[in-house]
Amino acid sequence: MGNKGKLLLGLACGFALIVQFTTGDLSYSIPEEMKRGSIVGNIAKDLGLDNGRLSARKARIDTEEDYKRYCEIDLKTGSVVVGERIDREELCGEKVSCMLKFELVLESPLELHRISLLIQDVNDNSPIFPKDTIKLEITESAVKGARYRVNEAHDADIGQNTVQLYSLQKNDNFVLSVRGDTDGSKNVELVLDKELDREKQHDLNLVLVAVDGGNPQRSGTAIIHVTVLDANDNAPVFSQAVYKASLSENSLLDTVVVTVSATDADEGVNGEVTYEFSRISERAKKVFSLNSVTGEIKVIGPIDFESDSKYEMRIDAKDGYGLSSDSKVIIDITDVNDNAPVIYLKSVTNPIPEDIPPSTEVGIINVQDRDSENNRQVRCSIQQNVPFKLVPSIKNYYSLVTTGQLDRELVSDYNITITATDEGSPPLSSSKSVQLSVGDVNDNPPVFEEQSYSTYVTENNKPGSTLCSVTARDPDWRQNGTVIYSLLPGEVNGAPASSYVSVNGDTGVIHAVRSFDYEQFRRFKVHVMARDNGSPPLSSNVTVSVFITDVNDNSPQILYPAPEANSLMTELVPKAAHGGSLVSKVIAVDADSGQNAWLSYHIVKSTDPGLFSIGLHSGEIRTQRDISESDSMKQNLIVAVKDNGQPSLSATCAMYLLISDNLAEVPELKDMSYDESNSKLTYYLIIALVSVSTFFLTFIIVILGVRFCRRRKPRMLFDGAVAIPSAYLPPNYAEVDGTGTLRSTYNYDAYLTTGSRTSDFKFVRSYNDSTLPADQTLRKSPSDFAEAFGDSDGSPEVYTSNRFGLSKPCCL
Ligand SMILES: *[C@@H]1O[C@H](CO)[C@@H](O)[C@H](O)[C@H]1NC(C)=O
Ligand SMILES: *[C@@H]1O[C@H](CO)[C@@H](O)[C@H](O)[C@H]1NC(C)=O
Ligand SMILES: *[C@@H]1O[C@H](CO)[C@@H](O)[C@H](O)[C@H]1NC(C)=O
Repeated sequence: MGNKGKLLLGLACGFALIVQFTTGDLSYSIPEEMKRGSIVGNIAKDLGLDNGRLSARKARIDTEEDYKRYCEIDLKTGSVVVGERIDREELCGEKVSCMLKFELVLESPLELHRISLLIQDVNDNSPIFPKDTIKLEITESAVKGARYRVNEAHDADIGQNTVQLYSLQKNDNFVLSVRGDTDGSKNVELVLDKELDREKQHDLNLVLVAVDGGNPQRSGTAIIHVTVLDANDNAPVFSQAVYKASLSENSLLDTVVVTVSATDADEGVNGEVTYEFSRISERAKKVFSLNSVTGEIKVIGPIDFESDSKYEMRIDAKDGYGLSSDSKVIIDITDVNDNAPVIYLKSVTNPIPEDIPPSTEVGIINVQDRDSENNRQVRCSIQQNVPFKLVPSIKNYYSLVTTGQLDRELVSDYNITITATDEGSPPLSSSKSVQLSVGDVNDNPPVFEEQSYSTYVTENNKPGSTLCSVTARDPDWRQNGTVIYSLLPGEVNGAPASSYVSVNGDTGVIHAVRSFDYEQFRRFKVHVMARDNGSPPLSSNVTVSVFITDVNDNSPQILYPAPEANSLMTELVPKAAHGGSLVSKVIAVDADSGQNAWLSYHIVKSTDPGLFSIGLHSGEIRTQRDISESDSMKQNLIVAVKDNGQPSLSATCAMYLLISDNLAEVPELKDMSYDESNSKLTYYLIIALVSVSTFFLTFIIVILGVRFCRRRKPRMLFDGAVAIPSAYLPPNYAEVDGTGTLRSTYNYDAYLTTGSRTSDFKFVRSYNDSTLPADQTLRKSPSDFAEAFGDSDGSPEVYTSNRFGLSKPCCL
């Protein structure tokens, strides 16, 4: 009862948990011996299944035990057809009901239907008498009504197809009596109707016919040979009408099961009783022997409860005359727990997609134990530490169910061991290993090894050179984990990113597409995407910053004095200038940066080497001592400007200085060999004349100059003094990198000189203005300088130099 309760509980659980686990039971009935391919029934129709889906759902027929494939399913039509010859007698022997059990298994969703096939008997066996000739020895003293048993005929068929009636050849002495026995067997006896007379007849032969009830009828015959005896004999008598014995299966050979015994009242040879099986099944014949003298029944073959649990046989005891009687022996076999449970994997989803929700059924397991009662009660279990469990389902079925979320990237294979143990004593168990693999689902996007990449490249690189490489990993399987790199569309300085760099789709190596110029831009960013090949694909992106490092490829550029006007640029130095006075300034820039733009100034050649010095880094030209009368009026300096690159680049310029307080004193500039011996009057006249014409000429030139300047040189900052055309300024003066390593800020100092140390002033602009946006070109416009003027105290005098070396205001 307890077991039944458990079973019910299991059933309830099974239904509650697995809704699709249906058990529509079907039963069909067919006669035995049908041809292969004969249709048993249409399962698809009977279960309301779609024919077309049978194949997709892997419909198949499983047998509960290892039967032959008696039945098969025709996936096209949904019919169950006969697969093998079915012989009822071979399968079921004398069993009244011969039932084959199958299971129809369908997958996705898993479904199980039980099919029972009742095999009907066909009258394919004739009645057979144990012996063709039955010998009877009867004394002539036998009286009318005496009964003589003969062995009944046997028919392997069942029911109506077994022996139904007997008929005895017509004769003078005997009639036939057939009585049914309680156990279904028949008692066939010859009854003496008229006394025998040995003088008339020594023996007689009678034909006995057994007929079955089949259609067509079959029959079997035996000859009864009756010998008429003289003496007065007794037949042996068994001590019991029925001998019952119980034998446990697997009993050893030679075990005595039971001993039958019959006694005979006769003496001597006539009283010696011998035993023999009068009726015994073929199976029983193989496992039992009967000692004809002692009546011992012994085991001679393997006793298996599972194949035969009960044997019945009849034994004849015969005396020396041939008089006999019979008895029945019933041997019950008792079960021993000798069969371990067997685990069958009925259906399994393999591989299991990793995204299936928890509590999904992934397999059906069937456990069978051929023993009986407690010996066949089986408990099934699975090892811990796996995300699966067994849920009892119908009868001896279990569902394998996931208990959690699977992740192929963590565990891709499971070895599941199912153990089944019966409740016998001692219990037997068996186990089965199931290998389950987890199928991939594209659930991981590629992930870059770094959050962002940066790379440094020196300018003037070769197009096609390798900048760096990016790597992304995707733990998914095959194409779901195959990473493809690409450049995301974007703009760098207004041009498509693809015109700067390219990405190798397979390797993630980034190449420069063009040569980079540090002086044009110092860094840029591109976005690289890594995408897997799944469907749909997953992707992620990363920023790659490219920093261009400087190369000393620009020589210093001298802005003042302007190189093309070197012969015309002249500075006035007051005669009264003391030592240390600022006289002029060489202004130079370098488009490179850092050390490559760190300029130094040197005087390489001068008219009077001791008179002027130049600030090593300021470029300021100062007097080294007071000017004396003896100093030559005209002083020439050759200044070299060098940057600090490796190797360094340089530029030179010439500077002309005129030691004078007064423009009137200006001698013939072209010719510095001035003659002092001219008469003062002539000198003054000439001076006056020259002055007037010079002023007039100057006026004209100024007027023209103003117009010319307005039209042609609108961007000249300062003409004559520090004339720095803004076009000279490098487009991107300062390093604005936030992260670059080469970071040296430099101030660009611009000086305006008026020839007088008192009126000189300077403005300083720092170009490393960190608030400037990175992509904005630093370009100083004239108005920036004008603002600087506005901030200073007093308007500067700005002079222009003309071919006469005069400095005049212009363009303002
Ligand atoms: C599962 O079993 C197979 C063979 O029995 C073995 O090769 C494999 O390594 C096992 N896997 C695990 C995860 O134990
Ligand atoms: C990739 O993932 C998809 C689902 O995203 C799955 O159907 C497919 O089988 C996977 N491919 C492989 C090779 O595992
Ligand atoms: C790049 O990735 C970020 C997040 O990592 C996302 O917000 C952005 O939309 C992505 N860009 C593109 C173009 O896919």
